[in-house]
Amino acid sequence: LPLLILWAVAGYLLGSIPFGVVLTRALGLGNLREIGSGNIGATNVLRTGNRPAAALTLLLDGAKGAVAVLLARAMAGEDAAQLAGLMAFVGHVFPVWLGFRGGKGVATFLGIMLALSWPVGIVLCLTWLIVAFSARISSLAAITAAAASTIWIMILVQGQMFGLGVVLTLLVFWTHRTNIARLRAGTEPKIGQK
Ligand code: G3P
Repeated sequence: LPLLILWAVAGYLLGSIPFGVVLTRALGLGNLREIGSGNIGATNVLRTGNRPAAALTLLLDGAKGAVAVLLARAMAGEDAAQLAGLMAFVGHVFPVWLGFRGGKGVATFLGIMLALSWPVGIVLCLTWLIVAFSARISSLAAITAAAASTIWIMILVQGQMFGLGVVLTLLVFWTHRTNIARLRAGTEPKIGQK
């Protein structure tokens, strides 16, 4: 059990690195909290107009989730991997460094899924891409991919990853609650819009 606590903490710390905030500041693009939605994720970094910075944020926020899972799995097994993944997501959404006001966790969610089960991860990345490119709404792509995750875990993996999938899906819907309200009102901005 102490080992599991260690991996929970390690996962949290990895997930809490706010790459979007760090990159925007490092590149002199301004304070991400004062840009667009104020969110710390790649969608909002794109609103600075810097595409490579947004792509890098997506990649690094995803990688931290994947690294948490893969490190924990290699050193402590599958239970530790799932716990580290969950805690990486929690770290991104509630980072101690930003007064526990973090992001929405989509990139990290996709990274976690890729590392836990690459077939599920790939299907979810494709789901995200298809919705993002057809509807051009990031939040819609996010909640569609999240909702699809439980179904694909059931088909491709089963086991206790299903429980983690349900928890992460509920959390993604919760972090997108204001986006969902705007989607219902028809006022959610398209990708790249301010
Ligand atoms: O996944 C985050 C994205 O779906 C919404 O980001 O900045 O438009 O709230 P934002």
